[in-house]
Amino acid sequence: MFLYIINYQYYEFDLCKLEMKCLFSQVPYSKYLITDKEIDVDRSPFVKSLIDIKLTASSLNSLVYKIRALNIAYNNFKVKYIDIEKDMEFEERHKIEGIIGYDIIGNAKLHDPDITLGITKLNNEWIFGEYKKSNIIWKKHDERPYYYCNSLSTRVSRAIVNIAAGRDLNVKMVDPCCGIGTVVMEALSMGIDIKGFDINPLIIDNAKANLSFFGYDDSLVSVGDIHNLNDYYDVVILDLPYGVLSISSINEQKDLIKCASKLAPKMVIVSIKVFDDLIKSLGYKIVDSCEAAKWKFKRHITVCELNK
Ligand SMILES: C[S@@+](CC[C@H](N)C(=O)[O-])C[C@H]1O[C@@H](n2cnc3c(N)ncnc32)[C@H](O)[C@@H]1O
Repeated sequence: MFLYIINYQYYEFDLCKLEMKCLFSQVPYSKYLITDKEIDVDRSPFVKSLIDIKLTASSLNSLVYKIRALNIAYNNFKVKYIDIEKDMEFEERHKIEGIIGYDIIGNAKLHDPDITLGITKLNNEWIFGEYKKSNIIWKKHDERPYYYCNSLSTRVSRAIVNIAAGRDLNVKMVDPCCGIGTVVMEALSMGIDIKGFDINPLIIDNAKANLSFFGYDDSLVSVGDIHNLNDYYDVVILDLPYGVLSISSINEQKDLIKCASKLAPKMVIVSIKVFDDLIKSLGYKIVDSCEAAKWKFKRHITVCELNK
């Protein structure tokens, strides 16, 4: 079992819940989630760290007893108390780390350990296991050379890619209105096979520059009108144009959704308006949705799959 320690801003909770549902088939009710499903600790923008659970016990004494009885051994290890419930003083945490460390066979190494062992207390259960902290590898994408006021943030793009792919990274994905490539970069950093297109050559120049900046293959984004795309993919992510830089009427947006529906049996649509009736009329069912809101600005994220 794995304990994921998660974090989100209050306005991200809906998006986080939908992402977790797609990755783990369950939603968090607080800032952690326990599941038998393993994902890379860097995969979700909401996962801060994880404990690969090795032992649980109803008290600290009983946990120490189990560690001793099972001859738990690690070399060059460090023990870290993870204060999920935020109810433990520093001195107490430190004391617990010492008690646990004492009974593990092998050398402790507090600086630059080979492995960190996590211990925590959650709902009166003591949990012990191998601890991994997210390196937040995706955060570097915030430093991209080109921005665009309509762009999705790195965190939202990453969550949307996870919603679209679910647990299967072997999906063929397309972002037919890719803008400066925020979604494409997140998918590429997870090793997903993705292509991006945009009708605007200037925007594609910037998308290429963004991809090259991080060492990704810039030929994966190219100028293209969604009306002329022919290949078929497993999933399409459609971030509909709106606003100042890419004025687009409701009818134009509807037309883009119709085009997107020809590209894949699964669509993740990012929009300001809700298009459920149109989506259903195209033979898709709405399998899930959420709002990604920040202040008064609200985006709808709709997950749809072709009716079988
Ligand atoms: C909301 S923006 C996408 C933003 C992108 N997700 C990002 O984070 O940078 C929508 C994009 O759709 C593009 N677009 C509009 N009509 C299109 C069409 N017919 N085919 C392809 N792209 C189109 C616009 O040029 C614009 O860059």
